[in-house]
Amino acid sequence: MDRILIMGGRALHGEVHVSGSKNSALPILAATLLTAEPCVIHSVPDLSDTRYMLEILKYMGAKVELLDKNNVRIHAETIQSVAPYDLVRKMRASVCLLGPLIGRLKSCKVSVPGGCVIGPRPIDLHIKGLEALGAGITLEEGYVVSHATELHGARISMGGRYGSTVLGTDNVMMAAALAKGTTVIENAASEPEVVDLAEFLNAMGAQVSGQGTSTITVEGVDRLHGAEYRVIPDRIEAGTFLAAGAITRGELIVRNVVPAHIKAVTTLLEETGYNLSYGPDWIGIKRPGPTNARDVTTSPYPGFPTDMQAQIMALMAVTPGVSVITERVFPDRFMHVAELQRMGAKIDMEGATAVVKGVDAMSAAPVMASDLRASAALVLAGLVAGGVTEIRRVYHIDRGYEHIDEKLVKLGAKIERKPE
Ligand code: EPZ
Repeated sequence: MDRILIMGGRALHGEVHVSGSKNSALPILAATLLTAEPCVIHSVPDLSDTRYMLEILKYMGAKVELLDKNNVRIHAETIQSVAPYDLVRKMRASVCLLGPLIGRLKSCKVSVPGGCVIGPRPIDLHIKGLEALGAGITLEEGYVVSHATELHGARISMGGRYGSTVLGTDNVMMAAALAKGTTVIENAASEPEVVDLAEFLNAMGAQVSGQGTSTITVEGVDRLHGAEYRVIPDRIEAGTFLAAGAITRGELIVRNVVPAHIKAVTTLLEETGYNLSYGPDWIGIKRPGPTNARDVTTSPYPGFPTDMQAQIMALMAVTPGVSVITERVFPDRFMHVAELQRMGAKIDMEGATAVVKGVDAMSAAPVMASDLRASAALVLAGLVAGGVTEIRRVYHIDRGYEHIDEKLVKLGAKIERKPE
């Protein structure tokens, strides 16, 4: 296991290129199981999560050929239907295998992914949607088992207590693509990554419409063909680098980004006092003068993304004023609070709300990464804390950020990666 050492206090300057979206690549890689023909996927970020998904696809019987570290050819000519616990347990996103396996094979046996540090990760909405298509699902010894003979279209609501479900919408869309008849998904997730998956399915010959709205319609087809597709840029990585430019009071240009995909984040940064500039595929940030803390409430797209909550908390921890941060998607997603407090942040928790009082400076401390975005928040805090911050269990960060330390060093950060 690696650790990283960050010498804080250096403003970041220059340009950074954002990788392909992890949360788009994972369901798209799974969707290649829907066809017996080869697919080529471009801009796949080189992460432990994507490498893990490719291992799972190989285990399921697909031929996987890395054309280079970000481009892969997958040929799932014949696949088997069982995804065992020791494969699935390490990556919760493996749940998005359910849709393609049930769509292609009509039956499957996929281990139920465990929870994780950001909270229990129920799949009741996934099961409700797949059952509505006729998947005949039972839970047997920790496995989701489907006994379908054929799938039929249905009208399904994917809304839950915390809004819609991204991977649940993905699973239903993928299975419905090969069902007989029309499926209408109401209260569908409208995240850009769901749109990206729908576009890939259509490139394979599916008939999906309404993606990006809360009602997605899928006309089932008999079979899907192979396709070549490029994954959208990672909007959360882009937001994380904008926050890095902000917190270090530097001046950055973040390239390979769709500005519309992170409007909630850029709007918040502008309201806080940062000066942002925009191009078709880039965003610039600099700090012209004083900044003031702002309140943040996370919600499904196009609201403020839960995946940026920890990073923004790190920024507000050193922004003058008080920021009330409310987490409405994953109410337990506050693993970063205790670690930020160790670095001097003034944060009071009230249920799923954090009251953050900006401090003049944070101080370096040895801290522990816990989940992907909490770890990113600790990196941001380390960039601005006085002294050398040591972050352990850096594998959490490597799950979702492609060589984040190397990209930050190119922007002027003083970071060293060492074996733990
Ligand atoms: C996706 O997870 C992302 N992961 C998450 O990013 C992201 O935080 C999340 O969407 C919300 O935007 C991937 O795309 C691989 P949900 P997903 O189902 O689909 C509840 C990251 O850091 N729910 O939209 O699993 C659930 O508990 C990761 O990159 C049910 O109640 O999230 C949560 O409170 C973390 N029943 C809310 O819905 C269900 O059946 C949203 O979860 C499913 C979900």
